[in-house]
Amino acid sequence: MQKNSTRFVCNECGYASPKWLGRCPDCGKFNTLIEEVVSPPQTKKAGGMSAVSPSRALPLSQVKYEKYERVSSGDPELDVVLGGGIVRGSLVLVGGDPGVGKSTLLTEVAAHLAKEHRVLYLSAEESCSQVKLRCERLGLTSDNLLLLNETCLENAEEAFGEAEYVVVDSIQAVYTETLSSSAGSVGQVRECASKLMRIAKSRGITFFIIGHVTKEGTLAGPKVLEHIMDAVLYFEGERTENFKILRAYKNRFGSVQEVGVFEMTERGIFGVNDYSSLFLSDSRGVAAGAVVTPSETGNRCMMVELQTLMAKTAYGLPRRMSLGVDPNRLIVLIAVLEKRCSIPLGTQDVYLNAMGGIRLSEPSADLAICAALASAERSIPVEKYTAVFGEVGLTGEVRGVSFAEKRVNECLKMGFRRVVLPAKNMKACEKFQGKIELVPVSYVTQMIKTLFPD
Ligand SMILES: Nc1ncnc2c1ncn2[C@@H]1O[C@H](COP(=O)(O)OP(=O)(O)OP(=O)(O)O)[C@@H](O)[C@H]1O
Ligand SMILES: [Mg+2]
Repeated sequence: MQKNSTRFVCNECGYASPKWLGRCPDCGKFNTLIEEVVSPPQTKKAGGMSAVSPSRALPLSQVKYEKYERVSSGDPELDVVLGGGIVRGSLVLVGGDPGVGKSTLLTEVAAHLAKEHRVLYLSAEESCSQVKLRCERLGLTSDNLLLLNETCLENAEEAFGEAEYVVVDSIQAVYTETLSSSAGSVGQVRECASKLMRIAKSRGITFFIIGHVTKEGTLAGPKVLEHIMDAVLYFEGERTENFKILRAYKNRFGSVQEVGVFEMTERGIFGVNDYSSLFLSDSRGVAAGAVVTPSETGNRCMMVELQTLMAKTAYGLPRRMSLGVDPNRLIVLIAVLEKRCSIPLGTQDVYLNAMGGIRLSEPSADLAICAALASAERSIPVEKYTAVFGEVGLTGEVRGVSFAEKRVNECLKMGFRRVVLPAKNMKACEKFQGKIELVPVSYVTQMIKTLFPD
């Protein structure tokens, strides 16, 4: 294949250089030069007209309406996250930490789709025999699923042939011949993704693309990668936990409010319907420092247990560590408890964990964190069937949160008997009076008096 000429362009200021430089001589920034193809100048017809025939503007009423055809992926949870199924001809990017189960999920989807469609699994990271081994472990048998081990995108493109669905594992491992930089570099990822988009739109192929994430947890490669895609899904979850959460980060054909809960087993990754009891432990109500909060993740409400542990500080500076909750939030809430409730925590190391590897980013967990801290400090367990939610301000006041009705309903459904909630949310939850005990609180001190009357 003929090699196009390329140049290196600075991401920040647009400075162009024929060879790579570590520092842009124009703006002085480091590591900003990205390789890109120099496209030949557009030939122009006589009279200054473009050689490409121009598109005509149409009134809205005359625009032809394309109906999006949706196909089930074989996994109801994944369908929910995609907004009701796979849209034909779309590009879906699935990102996530190493070993979270990206290849496993998409192998299952590919095998399911291969029952009725022509599907190709382009494995640039693993050999065909490794993929076959995985298929055997997962119990997937499909004679129609085509496997291809290829890293060069141009070669792979010919193999796409009549395929309707293609899984690319992963975008960081494939390269295009037009650029000389190595696979996985920003320029390569961008060029490969645009190439796949052109193929998707011109040949109507649906692509599932696996993407790696950086140490910070964002998708490796340029931001344009996310702009090109029709849907961007992230797999979340701690490596050691079996439960993974798939979250839509962007979706052109559906809501980004949806999440899917999956369980990783030896036989594969399965969507979990009964997700609400996953994040609760058996020691609830027995051990001090554990409190349950109804958390709104995506469009679903889940009961999540927060556990805290306190130990005397061995050195001068107390440690504060949290898993699944923003550590800064924990520090702020400890300060609120010390100042507004006179709970001394200055000589205690504090550890906080959200059960099951779930990440809580909502402020509604604040009050439950305070309750768990107070329970750990007093060594008094919180009653097993009590749930707590509400946002805590710096003055120690409890603020109302969204979806209060939904949260109380979930508590009721899960067999809880008492809910401590913000007084501001009381009105919305009045209809639950009689079915479940509602304790409205306006200040953190009130919550502590309710839970620990002695
Ligand atoms: N024999 C096995 N029994 C149980 N679980 C297994 C087995 N083999 C693999 N796994 C699970 O599968 C996971 C790897 O899944 P997968 O290869 O789909 O991850 P990935 O997200 O594609 O990773 P990578 O980014 O490395 O490609 C491992 O973390 C492990 O938990
Ligand atoms: Mg993989």
